[in-house]
Amino acid sequence: MSNVTVDTMCTEARVIVTCGTGGVGKTSVAAALGAHAAALGRRVCVITIDPAKRLADAIGLAYDLGNIPQQVDIVATGELWVTMLDVRETFDNLVRDTSPTPERAREVMENSFYRNLSRSLSGTRDYMAAERLYELSNDERFDLIIVDTPPSRNALDFLESPERLARFLKHPIVRLLVAPSRGGLRFANAALTPVLKIISNIVGSDALSGVAAFLRAFDGMENEFARRALSVAATLRSNATSFVVVTAPSPDALKEADHFVSELDRLGITLRLVVANRMPPHFGTGTSEDEHRLATESTGALAVAHALLATMQEDAEQADAGITAFLERSRGRFADLSEARANELPSDIHDMESISLLAQQLAAPQPRQ
Ligand SMILES: Nc1ncnc2c1ncn2[C@@H]1O[C@H](COP(=O)(O)OP(=O)(O)O)[C@@H](O)[C@H]1O
Ligand SMILES: [Mg+2]
Repeated sequence: MSNVTVDTMCTEARVIVTCGTGGVGKTSVAAALGAHAAALGRRVCVITIDPAKRLADAIGLAYDLGNIPQQVDIVATGELWVTMLDVRETFDNLVRDTSPTPERAREVMENSFYRNLSRSLSGTRDYMAAERLYELSNDERFDLIIVDTPPSRNALDFLESPERLARFLKHPIVRLLVAPSRGGLRFANAALTPVLKIISNIVGSDALSGVAAFLRAFDGMENEFARRALSVAATLRSNATSFVVVTAPSPDALKEADHFVSELDRLGITLRLVVANRMPPHFGTGTSEDEHRLATESTGALAVAHALLATMQEDAEQADAGITAFLERSRGRFADLSEARANELPSDIHDMESISLLAQQLAAPQPRQ
């Protein structure tokens, strides 16, 4: 896939991930790409891993979203489904799925360390986002999964979490905690004791015995955990996945967009598409210079109108220049990068009608593909 259009991306990708800073329209763009792909006949599931309830709001749903995908009522040859990551539920399901017996699943889920882990740690959130993506991309109801990431700078951490988890599970200390009574470990355990003492001084001995009990209950499940984690990591790095950076034309948004572009580069992931959203529209065909000239050459209301048009054209030209410079910088890292632009619509994006308007703009022929 080189120089993709929005249409080819929506037709061919198995996974699309939108990223960018807050307020640029990631969630709206994720929903719009979903609606467009559904119109092209695909069975799409948009998952938001942002705990804010913006996805339901953007498509005008009257109810909150949870872990179970809901089908959106639209006229399309394909289907549009939406869901919001529930970390706890995903973790519980994963434990149930991978436990050898229901008793073992219960033992893990009742463990205090597990309960803390599944509720609070931000790393868990990243990992569960990856796990949920694994499940959805293996769900036969869907042929395209669109991931809407949270607005934080480290929104892409979830991309690294599968490898991090797989590494963690293979760590010698973890292996020892998992199976302390197995042959040959007496000596190793003795060697480990000072390390465990230090850890227990930091986290408290109750917490540590909780961890040990958790890891023991967990024994044998880690291979399946790691297998899934690595499988989703491979999907995210394959040609089946397209990454999209969404930005607005303001200098602040572009600075953050630069950050996401370099993060993707660092992670060895190819950026396919930049969406320049919330662009100020061009009015008329003249440049701001033309309008300034016409303003000085005319009088009365006409002069005022031209002066106003001149200001609006200046805004639009500045926005174009900002985006063009950003694209040029980004093409230094990703030569085949495509772009799609969408104007600032007259109203907020809060229902399927506004989502379709946005989708139409994104899918329209673009300046350079
Ligand atoms: N093209 C657009 N035209 C008008 N309003 C937009 C557009 N794109 C996004 N918005 C508005 O901007 C706000 C943020 O959009 P959202 O999709 O939630 O962004 P993000 O997910 O990046 O934080 C919302 O109020 C939305 O209605
Ligand atoms: Mg959002």
